Amino acid sequence: MTVPHGSSVILSGIGAYAPEAVLTNDALSRMVETSDEWIRTRTGIRERHIAADGETTSDMSTEAARKAIEDAGLAVQDIELIVVATVTPDMPFPNTACFVQKKLGLGKIPAFDLEAACSGFIYAMDVARSLMLVSGYRHALVIGAEKLSSITNWDDRTTCVLFGDGAGAAVLSLSEEPEVGILDTLLGADGTETGILCVPGGGSASPSTVETIERSLHKIHMQGNQVFKIAVRVMCQSGLNLIERAGLTSQDIDLVVPHQANTRIIEALSSRLDISMDRFEINLDRFGNTSAASIPLALEEAYRKGRLKKGANVLTVAFGGGLTWAASLIRWH
Ligand code: UT7
Repeated sequence: MTVPHGSSVILSGIGAYAPEAVLTNDALSRMVETSDEWIRTRTGIRERHIAADGETTSDMSTEAARKAIEDAGLAVQDIELIVVATVTPDMPFPNTACFVQKKLGLGKIPAFDLEAACSGFIYAMDVARSLMLVSGYRHALVIGAEKLSSITNWDDRTTCVLFGDGAGAAVLSLSEEPEVGILDTLLGADGTETGILCVPGGGSASPSTVETIERSLHKIHMQGNQVFKIAVRVMCQSGLNLIERAGLTSQDIDLVVPHQANTRIIEALSSRLDISMDRFEINLDRFGNTSAASIPLALEEAYRKGRLKKGANVLTVAFGGGLTWAASLIRWH
């Protein structure tokens, strides 16, 4: 199908899903040697949602997707493409998006996963947007969903206090209104730093054995300090580059929806971008770091609070394992 020249891609609907169970810092401090005070002051996190046993990433994705489709005022059958960003697929294959297609009762539309860790949702939005503008898909589901509790090492206090589960979804729709929706996206990666944030076991490099399980190689390994420093640097750079590339200044940005990893990272971003904290959407106190679900969960909250007004310039910016980073500039329609 030919896409009319000047078409844009808007986020026509947004939905989110958080599992019912909440794990507080106090409860965590009964599991490992930590405290509510340490977690709050070092990260900003108070609690996180944890999926039920048997509740999968595709289950959470499907819940968020249903809400996003309803919010867009569409029928499920209007969706023509599904992209799920996740590092915790239901299975190594088939991809999670195929499970979502089945659970939504959709027809035989293309469905695939994209793995760019915490930057995954922005990567997925860009891939979906590009496919829509080139191939003419009118409505696409872009989902960021994680069951990080399934790859968290619950004996490692340096990581287990950080992560949570959840899903956020956006319906992307072609629009003939120019200069709205996703205006620009910046993607990047540094493959020389694959070792500082990873799940080392279970892939072709280290297939599952009793030993890989005993050594917790199927769980998240992170050198937090190093990740922290690079996160601040690349999130600031990509945010600033994107604002400049759009011919805007920091003062033109109405809302920043950052990856929710650590309040101190977000504060550094606020200071270096020269955008005050009241123009940031923050929910990590209640969700922790939900990797690919982080941006769409925060975006959904901003939407529900009425912070995404017509004409608002919204900057999303993320950073994660890979290392990967991504930023997108959205003008709300
Ligand atoms: O989403 C992908 C990107 N991920 C991130 O962006 C995470 C980035 N990193 C971070 O957010 C921070 O580095 C952490 C929150 C993970 C850690 O904070 P930090 O200020 O960098 O602490 P640290 O690793 O330097 O550890 C400081 C101290 C250590 O004790 P000593 O060696 O000073 O005696 C740790 O053993 O805090 C100790 N510690 C803890 N104490 C209580 C580490 N974890 C805990 C804990 N409770 N949960």
